[in-house]
Amino acid sequence: MDETRAYFDAVAGQWDEMRRQFFGDGVRRAAISAARIGSGTVVADVGTGTGFLAEAALDADARVIGIDVSEGMLDQVRARLAGRDFEARAGEVDALPLADGEVDAVLANMVLHHAPDPPGAIREMVRALKAGGTLVITDADTHTHEWLRTEQHDRWLGFDRADIARWFGEAGLEDVSVGDTHEVCSPTSECGTKAAITIFLARGRRP
Ligand SMILES: C[S@@+](CC[C@H](N)C(=O)[O-])C[C@H]1O[C@@H](n2cnc3c(N)ncnc32)[C@H](O)[C@@H]1O
Repeated sequence: MDETRAYFDAVAGQWDEMRRQFFGDGVRRAAISAARIGSGTVVADVGTGTGFLAEAALDADARVIGIDVSEGMLDQVRARLAGRDFEARAGEVDALPLADGEVDAVLANMVLHHAPDPPGAIREMVRALKAGGTLVITDADTHTHEWLRTEQHDRWLGFDRADIARWFGEAGLEDVSVGDTHEVCSPTSECGTKAAITIFLARGRRP
């Protein structure tokens, strides 16, 4: 985890530009819509980075808690969202700095593939949801781009949608669906290989 944190600290100042090359705004439009975020919704954005999802949730009138393991990312997001209804908290996806049932919605874009224990991370996100709250995860489908492990510290080469659906169910969520964002993640390797990895959207509701 220290290496992952060091990587994201190092790229924090360039993350917005990197992210624009990787994927577009369709990802956050899909996530905000699936989570049914509106005025007064309390949202946790796990692995917030520079606030890609957090900003869209704020624009939908939510109150947002952004969580990240990288202090570099947290510095960026604090500066970007200063003056808005946003709180940055340092923490890890498998031990979230959130009370039980603290939020109405948990969003997590492109962080699950960095999690040491993805099913455990999902259980932890569900713990933070109120009854009736919604978890929305957007992340990479299974792929074969091994270079992402070394160049971008990806721990998992995406996920099988059936596994994600099972982990959501095992974490106690209902009305689970895993579908397309119709968006693609397109990083380029140091030697010029360009990936095109589809991005899924998983949604479930805490009973
Ligand atoms: C690929 S970036 C995505 C950032 C943001 N969600 C976005 O869509 O632009 C992954 C983010 O997750 C954070 N991260 C990685 N591992 C983490 C962990 N175990 N716990 C919390 N955050 C983590 C990184 O610091 C980084 O900000």
